[in-house]
Amino acid sequence: MNKLQNRRVLLGVTGGIAAYKAAELLRLCQSQGAEVRVVMTHGATEFVAPLTFQALSGSPVHTQLLDAEEEAAMGHINLARWADVIIVAPASASFISRAARGEASDLLSAIILATEKKVLIAPAMNRAMYEDKVTQKNLANLTERGMVMLGPDEGLQACGETGFGRMLEPGALLQDVVSVFQTGVLAGLNVLLNAGPTREAIDPVRYISNHSSGKMGFAMAQACAEAGAAVTLVAGPVQLVTPSGVERMDVTSAAEMSEAVMAKIEQVDIFIATAAVADYTPEHKAVEKIKKNDQKMQLNLVKTVDIVSTVSSTYPELFCVGFAAETNDVEMYGKAKLKNKSLDMLAANLVGVAEGGFNSDENALKIFWSGGEHQFEMTPKHSLAQQFVELMAEKYNEKHTT
Ligand code: C5P
Repeated sequence: MNKLQNRRVLLGVTGGIAAYKAAELLRLCQSQGAEVRVVMTHGATEFVAPLTFQALSGSPVHTQLLDAEEEAAMGHINLARWADVIIVAPASASFISRAARGEASDLLSAIILATEKKVLIAPAMNRAMYEDKVTQKNLANLTERGMVMLGPDEGLQACGETGFGRMLEPGALLQDVVSVFQTGVLAGLNVLLNAGPTREAIDPVRYISNHSSGKMGFAMAQACAEAGAAVTLVAGPVQLVTPSGVERMDVTSAAEMSEAVMAKIEQVDIFIATAAVADYTPEHKAVEKIKKNDQKMQLNLVKTVDIVSTVSSTYPELFCVGFAAETNDVEMYGKAKLKNKSLDMLAANLVGVAEGGFNSDENALKIFWSGGEHQFEMTPKHSLAQQFVELMAEKYNEKHTT
């Protein structure tokens, strides 16, 4: 799975021979799903033409602080806000010195000063410049301010000397960028979710569906991404914005949802089935609109594939979470579904009542697992999802340490 899916990486390139390697880093970040924008210092443009980075990133390269056109397109503050992470590679001695002094005299230094996001710095310079007390003091200053120094590596340098000062290889830098997002309770795990309703076509204009809004599933996807997981979300027809960092696949019918889930399942550690998948689908979909003639009409329905049961029985090692929307006897049905569907956890909620459930922004959930249960009281879905993810991570770890 893509470890930087939908992440926004701001790549700062400063003047050094290693600037050409930044192009490779850009490609590697993109290969993991990141959107990359590039800021170059004047020195960097002496080594590599901005056009190279523009062509690779598909976006204009930013080079000027006081340029009306560039500031109008995306100013330094907006660039600082846009990024999920900033990596300066290579970072020259001169840039490190400006950043340490808190200068805002060029675009990249100004962004570093303005950002509240994680900043990674990959120094690259001549061995003696790196070892110089001033540079070491500057690096210590940046570290103290929360920036992360990556390398440098030891080895033969472009100047012919050998020692510390080589920029880390792009592959190693990519791992450091990825690890910025791997800090929560689901760090390093791949999570697949499905969400929303499905639509089962009767004819070209009619379908059978349900009231699921997908909000709980989207909140779960967001909470999993925030907890450091690489998240893929298979969404039925819903009107919701894709959470940051989540890879989304849109589907319509139960059959399409099943196909999309099964296509991804082998790369997954946790499957969370929040979707309200139709249990039945019309046996035949009419090619043309069905005309109304008789007083009564009969529609033959056939059972759909039970996605979560198929997953749990085919991949028993995988951690499987189901959801159950019930109008009554939540506890009894919830426990039965946990067992019958061979799930690791089941979250049951009451729907069709005045508060909570399908279209609401709040929900209450009763969680069951083998040997335990927990009640989450009525809470906004996002914070409910965060709490549920904490509990889920605990149960996941228990399963994988026993
Ligand atoms: O049996 P019921 O539909 O109430 O069970 C709900 C759980 O089963 C949910 O996790 C839902 O996503 C899953 N399910 C499924 N495939 C179906 C029907 C339900 O994965 N065809």
